[in-house]
Amino acid sequence: MINAHVLGTGGYAPKRVLTNQDLAEMVDTTDAWITGRTGIKQRRIAAEGEVTSDMAVIAARHALAMAGTAAEDLDMIIVATVSADMPLPSCAVILQAKLGARRAFAFDVSAACAGSLYGLNIAAQFIKTGQARRVLVIGAELLSRLVDWSDRNTCVLFGDGAGAMVVGPSPGPEAGILSMHLHSDGTAAGILTIRGGGSQYPQSEDVLARKMDKITMNGREIYKFAVRVLPEVILEALEANGLEVTDIDHIVPHQANARIVESVLGRLGIPIEKCWLNLDRYGNTSSASLPISLDEANRAGRLKKGDLIAMMAIGAGMTWGSALMRW
Ligand code: ACO
Repeated sequence: MINAHVLGTGGYAPKRVLTNQDLAEMVDTTDAWITGRTGIKQRRIAAEGEVTSDMAVIAARHALAMAGTAAEDLDMIIVATVSADMPLPSCAVILQAKLGARRAFAFDVSAACAGSLYGLNIAAQFIKTGQARRVLVIGAELLSRLVDWSDRNTCVLFGDGAGAMVVGPSPGPEAGILSMHLHSDGTAAGILTIRGGGSQYPQSEDVLARKMDKITMNGREIYKFAVRVLPEVILEALEANGLEVTDIDHIVPHQANARIVESVLGRLGIPIEKCWLNLDRYGNTSSASLPISLDEANRAGRLKKGDLIAMMAIGAGMTWGSALMRW
């Protein structure tokens, strides 16, 4: 069977920077609290009028250029997002039109912060079976419009951005995605939600008045869940490939919180130096965080041919997973 590989990466974050100091003027918080509890120093906020697909287009163009792929040659576009331009149609078809990727079929994936991993796995299956030769996988989120800016529990955490991966057949048998492991636990659905605006609580004045169109979360439960399942899913991936923790050259994580990443790596015995961390600059960009991190590590020349890369992500649902990839 054909092996799938990431042939190009791209990323984008809006220009406007919102620092912890800026937030301290908006809600009852401090730079020391945010930095100490999360590792976040600043985040990017989309400009007025800028929408999710606008960010996705820029990330996509960078990834396509690196992969040497024309938009017209794409067979498939997957956008992982919970903050699409609009409820209908998908962000992916809007992106398709903006890119001029006429041949591609396009759809969104809703798996929150784990969405890019879910999208990457779908792409890999289509490549492996030969049904597609070039797939664009995007994680793009504009969470600043879904955050309650008066809620200090959540507004300090999130940022806007987009990341892209062009997936295709591996150039050789030694490189490519070795395996992916995805999981969900819907019994934990209430930990992180936007309850309003769907079929249960359709948009109404009452929904808006009760801020049910904004993110609510139980941060402590997410934390406990994440530090339990992420080490498990990395070990699951290593075991499936007969590899050891020490074989991992790089960890590319979804970045929700530096303490979560440090705790997971500590439990696995992986030095933090092997991990690409950027949430001090971007905050939690949800599905965008993993492809942005992969792109930054890639463009910084960190990833060498033959290196073993372990990716991990967790998000609302709960949804989580891992991928092992030989660069
Ligand atoms: N500034 C100052 N104080 C704050 C802030 C803030 N921004 N936010 C909360 N507090 C207060 C709380 O009100 C609470 O005060 P109280 O004791 O008087 O009630 C106190 O700080 C402690 O609150 P906790 O929630 O217990 O703090 P905790 O140590 O758990 O840290 C945090 C909170 C950072 C949210 C942590 O639980 C966490 O990182 N959880 C993961 C959440 C996450 O990553 N969500 C992102 C989406 S999901 C994903 O991407 C995987």
